[in-house]
Amino acid sequence: MAPEPEDEIKDEKNPRPLDEDDIALLKTYGLGPYSTSIKNVEKEIKEMAKKVNDLCGIKESDTGLAAPSQWDLVSDKQMMQEEQPLQVARCTKIINPNTEDAKYVINVKQIAKFVVGLGDKVSPTDIEEGMRVGVDRNKYQIQIPLPPKIDPSVTMMTVEEKPDVTYNDVGGCKEQIEKMREVVELPMLHPEKFVKLGIDPPKGVLCYGPPGTGKTLLARAVANRTDACFIRVIGSELVQKYVGEGARMVRELFQMARSKKACIVFFDEVDAIGGARFDDGVGGDNEVQRTMLEIVNQLDGFDARGNIKVLMATNRPDTLDPALLRPGRLDRKVEFGLPDLESRTQIFKIHTRTMNCERDIRFELLARLCPNSTGADIRSVCTEAGMYAIRARRKTVTEKDFLDAVNKVIKGYQKFSATPKYMVYN
Ligand SMILES: Nc1ncnc2c1ncn2[C@@H]1O[C@H](COP(=O)(O)OP(=O)(O)OP(=O)(O)O)[C@@H](O)[C@H]1O
Ligand SMILES: [Mg+2]
Repeated sequence: MAPEPEDEIKDEKNPRPLDEDDIALLKTYGLGPYSTSIKNVEKEIKEMAKKVNDLCGIKESDTGLAAPSQWDLVSDKQMMQEEQPLQVARCTKIINPNTEDAKYVINVKQIAKFVVGLGDKVSPTDIEEGMRVGVDRNKYQIQIPLPPKIDPSVTMMTVEEKPDVTYNDVGGCKEQIEKMREVVELPMLHPEKFVKLGIDPPKGVLCYGPPGTGKTLLARAVANRTDACFIRVIGSELVQKYVGEGARMVRELFQMARSKKACIVFFDEVDAIGGARFDDGVGGDNEVQRTMLEIVNQLDGFDARGNIKVLMATNRPDTLDPALLRPGRLDRKVEFGLPDLESRTQIFKIHTRTMNCERDIRFELLARLCPNSTGADIRSVCTEAGMYAIRARRKTVTEKDFLDAVNKVIKGYQKFSATPKYMVYN
């Protein structure tokens, strides 16, 4: 024990010079465990970004135009002049198809029929009978195949950006999800099962239930999961100004659906058009009925094993026309009831997932306090709880906030609740 202090004193008098290991150790002082690697990665990213910028060359300005110094007006003008506008025609018949000297009969509206050849840029496989084509104005040669003519407002209904709702965001509704997936996914993924058994897969599903029980939500989840084209139509969109417009839109909608490999058509709030037929003595509502009959017609028209599935959602299934609902058209009817205790707990958990909550909130208890409430009510409770926290200038939501919110939403808004009324219809 004794020599140690002596050693220290000696060391203080002529300190040992630091060796390389010590310096390296000193340099790491204050650095996090990953700071060197982070620094390296940042440097790499910077280099990469510079490389990308170099390769991109000159950028467009924010107007979307290239810089004026890059414009070549003369050659652009020349190109425009060389390019003649085409005329729309319909190819009605192909003479000697699949041979060298195939000829095409085209019908230019209000002018005449011609027998013509193909332009240089079209291959014979592109052109089919009954197709719309573009022809030039001199020799009427077919220059370009055109897509079928479909109303742009119908084309707009396709959902291209998948909604970010998944089956995980739907609380409860296990049975409903199961039934829906059976109809929508099974025939598309395993059509051979139905062929083997010799039955037709169901064509469509009707979802019904009180407002705010997750009908639209589940349809969005289906749209997210499927690779098929998803078309969403709101019932009221099909009610148009002129006679026959609505029916035409339905026709074009199904025409578009048929041109896809697989397609799901979702009619939301279908009671806008699907009401039972009646005679009001004036004939004012006939137009709406005609639209509905066109849907009935189209539901019959396509092959059930084909890949079009129809989903519909409504609050009032009792008002719908029986013709629309009969088996063979909409085979499955899925009821969305009020969520039970377990589902309510789950819905609470789903909606508080992104919220900044206290650690141990008893969702079970909260769910118990909201009997007979829908998913939308529970969501509203969560939002209100957040509002209470904001009002008290807190950054986290406590259980008391939730209890207050339950009092406010479930008890206070009972006057507004239409759920009991709707429960009668469903
Ligand atoms: N089962 C559920 N799980 C999670 N959230 C739900 C559930 N049901 C409803 N919600 C919440 O309620 C909101 C409204 O639900 P949704 O739009 O599906 O109602 P709806 O059944 O289509 O009603 P309506 O018949 O009035 O159109 C959803 O955005 C969702 O946040
Ligand atoms: Mg809805």
